[in-house]
Amino acid sequence: MSKSSNFTLPNSTMRIVDKLLHVEKSLQSYGITESHIEASLLAATALGESRADLYANLYDEIPEKALLALDGFVERRLQREPLAYILQNREFYGLQLGVRHGVFIPRPETELLVDLAIQRIQNRPAQPTPAVVEVGTGCGAISIAIASNVSGVSLYATDISNVALSLAKTNADTHDVGEFVHLVKSDLLTCFIGTIDILIANLPYLESSRIPTLAPEIFLHEPIEALDGGLDGCRLINQLLSQASNLLASDATILLEMDPEQFTVIVEHAKTIWPTAEFTRHYDLSQTDRILEICLNS
Ligand SMILES: C[S@@+](CC[C@H](N)C(=O)[O-])C[C@H]1O[C@@H](n2cnc3c(N)ncnc32)[C@H](O)[C@@H]1O
Repeated sequence: MSKSSNFTLPNSTMRIVDKLLHVEKSLQSYGITESHIEASLLAATALGESRADLYANLYDEIPEKALLALDGFVERRLQREPLAYILQNREFYGLQLGVRHGVFIPRPETELLVDLAIQRIQNRPAQPTPAVVEVGTGCGAISIAIASNVSGVSLYATDISNVALSLAKTNADTHDVGEFVHLVKSDLLTCFIGTIDILIANLPYLESSRIPTLAPEIFLHEPIEALDGGLDGCRLINQLLSQASNLLASDATILLEMDPEQFTVIVEHAKTIWPTAEFTRHYDLSQTDRILEICLNS
């Protein structure tokens, strides 16, 4: 037996760079496409430092504790747990938001909904302050992004999930908008009375039959009640519109995220409630029409 074959490096002497390459290869071999960036995010989190620091210290030894933490993260990721749940964090509209199991992970395409909501709020007279309601807030992403970018705006954000509402509260407080984002447990708008000027929702809109075909990160790990929109995906959105008919101001604006294939069904339903409303489709960065805007004052 050669001398070298008897010699193994104890884990504690492994360099960050070597471990990083090893993690990247493991992720790659499991078909995780963004393996390089994911490996560095997992390693930086295990080390409790930024990615910039990680790259600045690549040739340092990785401490035993960080190594164990990183191995645990990698094992979870190889089970296709979403990266955001492992990191307990997701960037949305330039904000770092806490995320956790049981709560939907905000998606980049929803940032268009925020852009539009901010524009519509700013286009209204400042006084009286518009009544803005977001239904199905999840971790609070949309409402917190709006409140962080429009001074003085006050929003009601609802969800049926206690876990989501509690996380949204933490996120709102972390971003210093807790006093502007009022969290309410409500099945759609059932808890509301009064008049709403701007109604925003990214409700579950996937057809039930599509759910088992989704990526395992979504299908196995994200909450079904945040995904399942019923047989045609439109169940909750259409229910929301029916409920809203008695609550909206005559010049209200509704902004809804949905699947492009659902526009026809939802517009048809909305026309039965507001025959003279104006309907606009908005396209996201990948040129997919994701947002339906309904203006009642036309
Ligand atoms: C697709 S997620 C969107 C979460 C968040 N708005 C976002 O964009 O990241 C849908 C959310 O709607 C909530 N939800 C589902 N059914 C609801 C209902 N009947 N009333 C209120 N919220 C509901 C879910 O709990 C989930 O948080």
